[in-house]
Amino acid sequence: MQTRNLLGIDVGASGIKGALVNIETGEFVGERFRVPMPDPSTPENAANAIAEIVKNFNYQGKIGIGFPSVVKKGIALTAANLHPSWIGCNIETVVNAATGCPVIALNDADAAGMAEMRFGKGKDKMGTVVLITIGTGLGSAVFTDGHLLRNTEFGHILMKTDLIAEKYAADSIRKKEELSWKKWGKRFNEYLQKLDLYLQPSLILLGGGSSKYFDEFKGKITIETPVEPATLLNSAGIIGAAVYAAESE
Ligand code: BGC
Repeated sequence: MQTRNLLGIDVGASGIKGALVNIETGEFVGERFRVPMPDPSTPENAANAIAEIVKNFNYQGKIGIGFPSVVKKGIALTAANLHPSWIGCNIETVVNAATGCPVIALNDADAAGMAEMRFGKGKDKMGTVVLITIGTGLGSAVFTDGHLLRNTEFGHILMKTDLIAEKYAADSIRKKEELSWKKWGKRFNEYLQKLDLYLQPSLILLGGGSSKYFDEFKGKITIETPVEPATLLNSAGIIGAAVYAAESE
């Protein structure tokens, strides 16, 4: 039996957000709750912050977590924008110890992509659909005829020697270098050109915080493949994590 409402959590470099999700409709049940990412963002500190969210919802039951790293069998294998002690750490075990709840973890962009394919603009889309989340880093989710190729890391492709894409065109770089939307948009377009060349997608969706400013930079996008802001914007990670957990053993 599937649980109807499940707690979805989206772990980001600067904050951790959670909401109860109706897994059939993909809608939030009530408000979203956010806690800042503790500094340092160690497993113990982050797990305690997640426990705060669980307490806020007075929740007991399975939790789905979208996590900003490669996640295999619940284990974080990278930590580009988090404390390095996460590498090799079992996210599911650590959060289970802090909350008492069973936990299922997956990559945050994969979670967002799953939500967008089920409830958003990716619904019923065949061919290759790529979702890029634009935030502190660049996350990617790649689908072929609706099937997810897990743990792709297209935010880490090289723009030139020693320059990975997310250090060139993530939203954190736009803020850090105080780039106008136009200047940043030009960089992001260069990134899209590479993705387009490597993946030959039929649709590219943009998620994460900056996707709501799409109008500010869409004039800089020159590739022929359609590029559109995702429908679920910033909620997709939470929704996808909940749905994925609901459907996992
Ligand atoms: C990580 C990805 C993650 C993305 C978005 C990147 O730095 O390597 O795993 O999906 O940030 O959070």
